[in-house]
Amino acid sequence: MNEPVLVQTDGHIGIATLNRPDVLNALSVELMDKLIDHIEAFDRDPDIRVIIIAGSEKVFAAGADIADMSGATFLDMYDRNNLGRWMRIKMVRTPIIAAVSGFALGGGCELAMACDMIVASESAKFGQPEIKLGVMPGLGGTQRLTRAIGKQRAMEMILTGRFMSAKEAYEAGLVTSVASKEQFLAEALRLAGRIAEMPPIAVKLAKESVNKADELSLQEGLAYERTLFYSLFATEDQTEGMQAFIEKRKPEYRGK
Ligand code: CAA
Repeated sequence: MNEPVLVQTDGHIGIATLNRPDVLNALSVELMDKLIDHIEAFDRDPDIRVIIIAGSEKVFAAGADIADMSGATFLDMYDRNNLGRWMRIKMVRTPIIAAVSGFALGGGCELAMACDMIVASESAKFGQPEIKLGVMPGLGGTQRLTRAIGKQRAMEMILTGRFMSAKEAYEAGLVTSVASKEQFLAEALRLAGRIAEMPPIAVKLAKESVNKADELSLQEGLAYERTLFYSLFATEDQTEGMQAFIEKRKPEYRGK
């Protein structure tokens, strides 16, 4: 059976790999539904502390599946609301790293941006080419690309469909780091490993607080952050982290 998403674990890291190579990992409805199911299952698993979404070295994802949409009417799209279901990804509390090599276009770029960090290979190409198909981004491109790289560059990319190289994406602040084609996945695993060593509850709350920066005013965001900070004093990991510092030893975090 051709599973559109393959999953595996590596210690505390859950890895979901997009697997439709014949169509450049086009995000069919089935793929997207399965991907979100797998990610939510990882999120519920107390042993998983970081999630990686990866494609292949050649392609992350070339966008929503055009064959799925080509004959659709407005009512078909509105009634199915496939893209609306995808918003569940923002409810995931475990940090998600996108490991991107090759094309990350349209919904593929939007999927990467919906993750918390992007580790790119030097061959990565980011773009929102929907305009060339007579439509526009529908999975967050106009909002997240604009927040990530600013209005001037986002507008140009979205209105022309131009692709951005990994180097340009790094310089514009779209991606966390760039590695070679051979090393990008290892680099994503290294980053995931470093996060997995941190106290899991503090990691989840810190992720939540950073993501709130897109939505709240500064005053609201600062108040929200402060409350989350105080709440971590209800965890054993806070006691352990501070005690270990005082005793000059490595902390042992248990996610409690
Ligand atoms: N949907 C369905 N099939 C796709 C696809 C997509 N998004 N992208 C590529 N494929 C298929 C091609 O049809 C082709 O299939 P066949 O071999 O059966 O012909 C196969 O993948 C290989 O593609 P190409 O031959 O085109 O490969 P290439 O190397 O010449 O070009 C590419 C690569 C530039 C990425 C080109 O495939 C392309 O432009 N793809 C479409 C990109 C795009 O427009 N994405 C946006 C989709 S709409 C969207 O995502 C909406 C949203 O916001 C939710």
